[in-house]
This record gives sequence, C-alpha cells and structure tokens, in this order.
Amino acid sequence: MAVGTKRVIVIGGGLAGLSCTIKLAEEGVDVDLFSMVPVKRSHSVCAQGGINACNEIARQQGFSEWMHFDETVLGGDFLADQPPVLEMCNWGPKIIDLLDRMGVPFNRTPEGQRDLRLFGGSLFKRTFFAGATTGQQLLYALDEQTRRWEADGRVTKYEFWEFLWPVLHEGQCVGIVAQDMRTMQIRSFRADAVVVASGGNGLLFGKSTMSVVCTGGAASRCMQAGAKYANPEMMQVHPTAIPGEDKCRLISESARGEGGRVWVPRSKADVRNPNDIPEAERYYFLEEKYPKYGNIVPRDIATREIFHICQEGYGVGGGNMVYLDLRDKVREIGREAVLKKLEGILEIYEKFVGADPLHEPMKIFPAVHYTMGGLWTGFTKDEKSGGLKKGDPKNMMTNIPGLYAMGEASSGYHGANRLGANSLLSCIFDGLFGGSCVKNYAFDAAKVAAADVPQATFDAVVQQEETRARKLIENKGDENPYELWMEMGKLMTDNCTVVRYNDRLTKTIEACQGWKLRYQNIRLSDTSNWTNQNLAFTRVLRDMIILSEAVLKGALARNESRGAHYKPDFPERDDANFLKTTIATYDPAANTTNITYESVDTTLVTPRARTYGKVETKA
Ligand code: FUM
Repeated sequence: MAVGTKRVIVIGGGLAGLSCTIKLAEEGVDVDLFSMVPVKRSHSVCAQGGINACNEIARQQGFSEWMHFDETVLGGDFLADQPPVLEMCNWGPKIIDLLDRMGVPFNRTPEGQRDLRLFGGSLFKRTFFAGATTGQQLLYALDEQTRRWEADGRVTKYEFWEFLWPVLHEGQCVGIVAQDMRTMQIRSFRADAVVVASGGNGLLFGKSTMSVVCTGGAASRCMQAGAKYANPEMMQVHPTAIPGEDKCRLISESARGEGGRVWVPRSKADVRNPNDIPEAERYYFLEEKYPKYGNIVPRDIATREIFHICQEGYGVGGGNMVYLDLRDKVREIGREAVLKKLEGILEIYEKFVGADPLHEPMKIFPAVHYTMGGLWTGFTKDEKSGGLKKGDPKNMMTNIPGLYAMGEASSGYHGANRLGANSLLSCIFDGLFGGSCVKNYAFDAAKVAAADVPQATFDAVVQQEETRARKLIENKGDENPYELWMEMGKLMTDNCTVVRYNDRLTKTIEACQGWKLRYQNIRLSDTSNWTNQNLAFTRVLRDMIILSEAVLKGALARNESRGAHYKPDFPERDDANFLKTTIATYDPAANTTNITYESVDTTLVTPRARTYGKVETKA
C-alpha cells in the first residue's frame, strides 16, 4: 500500500495528541486532528514544573534511566505494568534532545547546560524545565511542528469539534462521529485507526486544577461503546493548589523542588502573621516526618500529610490551609534568581490571592489534579530489553481493535500515584512511540479498510447522536445540569478523594443512582442550534455520571491502601489480594458499570515497601 493512503483520527490537541499527530505525519499517514478548544489551549498548557529524564549531568550524579524507571514504579505503588514504564524512561533523554532541537526554551545553567531541578519522589535532580510554564513551552513547540504538517496538507485540524462516539464495524474502530460546536452539525469521519488523547477527568470532582474541558467525556463514551477502563479509582490530589470559588489553581511542585518549605504554626492557637512567627515555632511537618525526602515526598504522601495536619486543627487559622514558604530561597539566591525559575506560578499566586509570595508564605491546600486511571491499553513486551516491542500495533491499543488511547486518557505508566513531571514525558512518549504502532496497525493489521465499510454503519451512529441531542433539547424536566454536576462534584470530593471510607462510598454510589434518575429529568436553558454549550455540557454530564460510578465502585472494591487510594480502615497495601488492575466495563442494558480485575506485569522489579524513610514526630 502506498504511503499516504491511510487516515488516522487523533482526538485531543494536547502533548500526546500533537506528538502522535507529528509522528504519524512523518510516517506518511494523513491525520484528522480533533480538539474542543484551539490546540494551544489544550490542558497541557497548564503543566508547570517540568519533564523528567536522565541526562549526562544526572548520570554524573549517579542517576540512570533504570533508577528513573524504579522511582516511577515505586511512586505508583507497583500498580503500573512495568515494561511500558521502562521503555518510557529509556526514551526520556532523546525526547528532551528532540524538544530542545524544536526550540523549547529550557532553563540553562551559567555553563550553558540544560538546568535540572528536584521533583517529588527522587533524591536526584532529573527534571528539565522552562521556568514554571514548561507545559506551555512544550505545547507551543509541538503546535509549530503540527502547523508545518498542516501547511503540507498532511494534517487537517478540526478545532471546536467535539468527539461524540466511535464508529465500530465488526468490532473494529473505523471512525468517529463528531459535532461542530459552532454550527452544531453532527457528522461522521472515516479512519483506519482512532487515537483518543483527550486528557483527564477532573470535572467529576467539580473543582480541580484541570481545565473545564477535562470531563473524561471522550474516554467515558469509548467505555460505553465497549472499551475497558482501567484503575478508575486512582485519582491524584496535588498537595499544593490555591482553592478558588470557580476552580483550584496549581502551585507547582517545583516551588518545593526549588526549596519551598511547607509548614504550619506549632501552636494551634497561633494566629500571628506568618512573617512574625519565628523558625522555632513553625512545624515543618514534611521535613520532620520524612528527613530523607522532606518537602519532595511523592504527591499522595504530601497530600495526606497536609490533609491530616489540617484535620488535627493545625491548619492556618484552624482551617484547611498550610504555608508554602519560599522566603529562605529568596534569602539564599535572591529574588531575581527565584523569579527566573518560578515566575509563572508566582504571578498566578499574586493575581489570584493578591499577595507577594516571595514576601510572605503562600497559603495552599490539596486539589484534584490528575487521572492515573484511564482507558485500558495493551502492550507487547520485548523480552530482550524488558521494554516494549517497537512498532507493535498492540502497544497503546485498547481492547477495541483500531482504537488507541494515549496521554492522561489512558491508564499506562503511573499506577496508583504519578510522580510529578512524569506526565509530560508519558504524553510525548505515547505519541512518538505509539505513532509508529498506530501506523503499523493501519497499514498491516487492520482487518478492514475504513474506506470499505458501508456508509450505513456511519449513518447509524450519526442518527444515534442526532436523536440523543434532539431528546436533550426537547426534554421538559426541571433539573439544572450545572446544579446536578456541582452536587455530584461535592460528594465525589468529600467521599472519594484523599481518604475513603466504605460506608461513605456506598452512600455515594446510591446517590449516583439518583443522579442517573435526575438526569432523565434534565432541562436545557439554551435550546438553540448555534454554539450551544449548554447542550454539550448536559450531554457530557451523563458520561461523567457513568465514569463517576466506575470511580466509586473501583474505590469501594479495593479494600487496601495503595498510592492515592487510602482507606483508614485498610491502611496497608495488600499485594496478596489487590496487586491487580481494576477493570471497569459498562453494561448498557442495566446502565451501570461493573468491576473485574487483571494482573499487573511486575516482571522487572519486585514490589517492596514504600516508606520514603518516614519517622514518627509530633508538633
Ligand atoms: O506541580 C507541577 O508542576 C505539576 C507537574 C505535573 O503534574 O507533572
């Protein structure tokens, strides 16, 4: 088959979607790229702190790709399949070189080397960064490359289009149905493979650090169409964010990686201005409890410690807030030098809180941040290297032939807890490594060419989606979709984030059945046929409810504590019973999700205790 005669659809214009698009285009495949927002506003743009990889400088300190791999699987509490993680870490250095060549303005040392910073879960500096706006710099670099292919006619962009449903023919994915969010036209698109790179699902929890398009809708729709969804219960709560009325805003882990210190007053009654509290009267609880890692313990641990200290009444003013203090760093290297590394986040703090974070400590609290679970994807291990077999079509493919998942929409790499700065790496690795696998599927492994599938197969899905949209517009109920969503988000946050109790999870699953019923009674405030965001939101609310049920059921069934999933009634990790991947599937007849399990590939490193050198201490 001549190169250029296959077409692949990529859903999502973030780092995973763009790197996959670029790779496919380089390999001579035509790509239709779908994004609900301009690709430069994909949620990847919000990533701040950096991207992990071992380079020569890190190697001279004694670091290696293998250690990066080992830290990642330990960080994920051994719930990640190990061969994909090893392959990703081995690719890290060349990905950084590639980004550098594309013009990413990585910070540099006075000697001209790319600078490195500390990040959670490592004692080695192995995180490359572009100030504290690394995601933005990476996204813009990949966007430029994508535009090059667009100009060549190899890539066609569909911005402001929403993916609605995959088109399946004899069990194989042969295209999608999508809606133009301006004209509201619903139409089908043929493709020899479809890549879902649509990001995470923070909106299930109402407020999070994620952008408002991070509903998990695309992944939920694929699950409803038959794709397996892995480890839905594994949600990351980032330790340091600014709580807001509308959403939470991330204050990067790089603030701690660069020397920021987390503390609370030692006395619960202390209401002094933080600048008036002397060092000896501050409780640096992370440093005292984890003398080895201090403020850069992995996120699940830092989050729990901050949560507990506030529960015990030590939070600032007795509330849900602790201090994140950069003043020592300012004293050490000066204000200008700190700004050079962290200005992006310091500006955010100043803008939304109205205080200078280099003059007084920031007030922060944990917030929902990242989806470790996602669409289940397979892989083929290379027995010689321990990593992945290059170009194998099974890598990154869901259980539906021809349907791939990449980046945060997939479940690979991060297990029960992602290490900071591994997300950008996993997205770009997925796209670059996975692109060749997708191409090989499209050219060599697909049983049917999309071009040969009868038009009626596509028309049936268009009709399904037109009917669904019309019913929503015509529904005469009295439920406000935004209010229902906010109620759902509050219950999900209260009962299914940092600590989880089975009785509360059970009650929330019962509430979820109520959300489904109330959804039948929904009413749109906008019934027009032009840029109707009310329709898009209400439609995806149903998908969020279904995904929330999978999160809740996965959490209820996992009677242990592992990574971000912590049950005080089952405080230990239980490898004998739960060293396994949760698999959620959707039963359309019963409109419910079911949970089963699959084994985890731990063939490279034997699971071990995850303590990070904790010692007992008190305020
Ligand atoms: O804290 C941060 O800068 C976030 C990075 C990440 O989620 O990887």
